[in-house]
Amino acid sequence: MVAGGGGVNDNSIGIGNGLRTAVLISGSGTNLQAIVDRIRAGGLDINLAQVLSDRPDAFGLTRAREAGIPTRVIDYSNSNSRPEADEKLLIALETLAPDLVVLAGFMRILPPDMVNAYPGRMLNIHPSLLPKHRGLHTYRKAIQSGDTWHGTTVHYVTPDLDAGPSIIQYKIPIRDGETEASLRARVQRGEYVIYPRAIGWIADGRLSLHGTDVWLDDAPMDAPVIVEEI
Ligand code: GRF
Repeated sequence: MVAGGGGVNDNSIGIGNGLRTAVLISGSGTNLQAIVDRIRAGGLDINLAQVLSDRPDAFGLTRAREAGIPTRVIDYSNSNSRPEADEKLLIALETLAPDLVVLAGFMRILPPDMVNAYPGRMLNIHPSLLPKHRGLHTYRKAIQSGDTWHGTTVHYVTPDLDAGPSIIQYKIPIRDGETEASLRARVQRGEYVIYPRAIGWIADGRLSLHGTDVWLDDAPMDAPVIVEEI
């Protein structure tokens, strides 16, 4: 099970029942939408309590409002300083007291104190087969490196960027003539499958982090679960 996050867990805000969950976004929010759709379909037992964005114009905020999820904007570009914006986000999260924090296209590196406040309770999805291609422009890097495979990884967040323990990967072959756009489209189809799946494992008490070891169904994993192209 996930260690208690201090969440009220009365499920009186947001959508769904179960682990009180915050989703952090910066952009279009298609992964957020996939999570919402899975909750709505009855396939994911979490309470999506709030969507937080560092940008007021993130389209994911519109998706959240349409789904009936409270939203919160911490406008980083309107803050006096980066530490001040980080502090606002930290306090916003503390106030919400989520059991689980899901980064879904949140384009800021979180400070260590924020990450360390949610040990084993903060997830990210990164569009590469980690540990390959950390950071930005992963599609370009994969094509330019001549990789034969690319994909996306759900991992626990630790203070080191894109370096936390991996949980599940979606893996696809890079085709002849592949472009960044075509690769992104194929990879993202898989994100909408593996991210709700990993979140569901946590919600069902099947997945946890012990030190740097990921445990699934009462056993340590020696490698992330691999899902091949659908
Ligand atoms: C995803 O493709 C994810 O891999 C990366 O950011 C993107 C966010 O897309 N971390 P969206 O906002 O969920 O559409």
